[in-house]
Amino acid sequence: MSSDVTSIERRQFDTLIIGAGGGGLRASLQLAEADLSVAVVSKVFPTRSHTVAAQGGMNAALANVSPDNWHWHMFDTVKGSDYLGDQDAIEYMCRAAPKAVYELEHFGVPFSRLDNGKIYQRAFGGQSQNFGGDQASRTCAAADRTGHAILHSLYQQNIRAKTHFFDEYFAVDLIKDDEGHVLGAVIFNIQNGQIMVIEAKTTLLATGGAGQLFKTTTNALINTGDGMGMAMRAGIPLQDMEFFQFHPTGIAGRGMLITEGARGEGGYLVNGDGERLMERYAPKAKDLASRDVVSRAIAVEVREGRGCGPNKDHVLLKLDHLGEAVIQKRLPGIRQTCITFLGIDPAETPIPVFPTAHYTMGGIPTNRFGQVVVPVKDTPEEPVAGLYAAGECACVSVHGGNRLGGNSLLDILVFGRAAANHIIDYLKENKYHRSANEESVNEIVAKIKRYDQPPSSSDTASETVANLRKELKQTMEDHCSVFRNKEILKEGVDKVEQLAERMKNVRIDDQSFTFNTAKVEAFELENLMACALAAIHSAYAREESRGAHSRTDFTERDDKSWMRHSLYSFENGLDYKPVRTKPLSVESFPPKPRVY
Ligand code: FUM
Repeated sequence: MSSDVTSIERRQFDTLIIGAGGGGLRASLQLAEADLSVAVVSKVFPTRSHTVAAQGGMNAALANVSPDNWHWHMFDTVKGSDYLGDQDAIEYMCRAAPKAVYELEHFGVPFSRLDNGKIYQRAFGGQSQNFGGDQASRTCAAADRTGHAILHSLYQQNIRAKTHFFDEYFAVDLIKDDEGHVLGAVIFNIQNGQIMVIEAKTTLLATGGAGQLFKTTTNALINTGDGMGMAMRAGIPLQDMEFFQFHPTGIAGRGMLITEGARGEGGYLVNGDGERLMERYAPKAKDLASRDVVSRAIAVEVREGRGCGPNKDHVLLKLDHLGEAVIQKRLPGIRQTCITFLGIDPAETPIPVFPTAHYTMGGIPTNRFGQVVVPVKDTPEEPVAGLYAAGECACVSVHGGNRLGGNSLLDILVFGRAAANHIIDYLKENKYHRSANEESVNEIVAKIKRYDQPPSSSDTASETVANLRKELKQTMEDHCSVFRNKEILKEGVDKVEQLAERMKNVRIDDQSFTFNTAKVEAFELENLMACALAAIHSAYAREESRGAHSRTDFTERDDKSWMRHSLYSFENGLDYKPVRTKPLSVESFPPKPRVY
């Protein structure tokens, strides 16, 4: 079941990538094609990573359906972020987007097509032509299974390029040397419980988000903030964790995602009085306002008694007017989801929906090259040698206070590639492995072995992982949801602190053949707990409303005091750093009132 410390297997690679979603696999492909040795460690088989669940598509100003250019995309993204996004990174991403899509096309992604053969693009929320003008159609889609198509193509390309996969291994913690260089990680083989050390000249965290923080979520069970937890335990603060996106259209009470593409194809929301509710909240963009706006609108309708159903606790997403042929061609996946989980066909019956936890805007702070950066003395950021992060676990920050739909697949592909390119250059100057601090390895091994002891009969203080995880998810749902205020957040802070304290008493009862997975669940809970502490403390401290952080006691955005990124660490609690408002080559977009 467990390893003897002296007999731990060691492997060496140029780069260790932790996580096999789109960000990790785009990076590994770039590195493997540059003839570097790359290990990808994934706790699930790679094509089960959460990118597979991305539905609606990926933004790029291809102008296949409406006039478009990257500068308009940049404007929409800055505005969507409620001016908290870093404009250098946003410019870089929007300019790189068309190339990222064409690369995918060449990797074999079967994008949906227009009659003229060009890539199909649908309208998504917050997209405009000409800096806030008419609706744009910028989201490149493979029906409503875009993430599935991308992940499978990237995996196949990696097999061809001979990337080395460690499937169903859990990365527990980062190894560092005395000077703070990151030198790989200790990993745990979920099948046989063996511990392994991967020594790497560079390590890239690409572990996805932390949607499992909440009870109702679109996220898979695997989305437990693992990279963020590892980073925090390595002394790296998490950035902007108070900004968590609630997708407006999760299936009510259950959480499964109904893509924004459904509204992009012409679907709309109605309340219990049969009104098209978004006309009141966003007169111009209506159902295609940005996600924070639509989620708040639904929550207000329900709170004020205009919900649908016997409990008036949701609204309806109406698609039946689109006709069966459009639904089957453009939205076959969500049709099947509704049939399977609700027993209704959206071609005939509206779908009950409610905002659902969806996306972690915050994460591990990086620059636009994917280098993890931390404040050092008087500088807002210095790179951590050897450590990179990309995708949802990272905060680069292109999404700021609110991510636009379709910018997430774009983010993972653009910054997965950018991080790999930086690693390639870094390795030209850093050719040799540095030796790991054995104490750091031993500490991680001891942590893994702590769970080998079952609770004794006198061990009354022991806690189960399942109970703590359930309580944590309920606490975050109750205290850190769409609307927040001081009282609710303060209670949330106290409860999460208490849960984190109780985590110290966790014992694994089950010493049967499922023991290794029980251990993994304990590691995951440690990671979730770290993310929850960062999120709730940062939310409590931020006394304004911006993007997805909506305070009923501080209802306005306050650029004077709060246009800054939060940083939360175990060692120092809360700190802040400035937003990078200067783009690379164009004028900055100054903060303005945000209307749709
Ligand atoms: O609604 C969706 O299809 C989700 C897309 C996204 O989060 O970018």
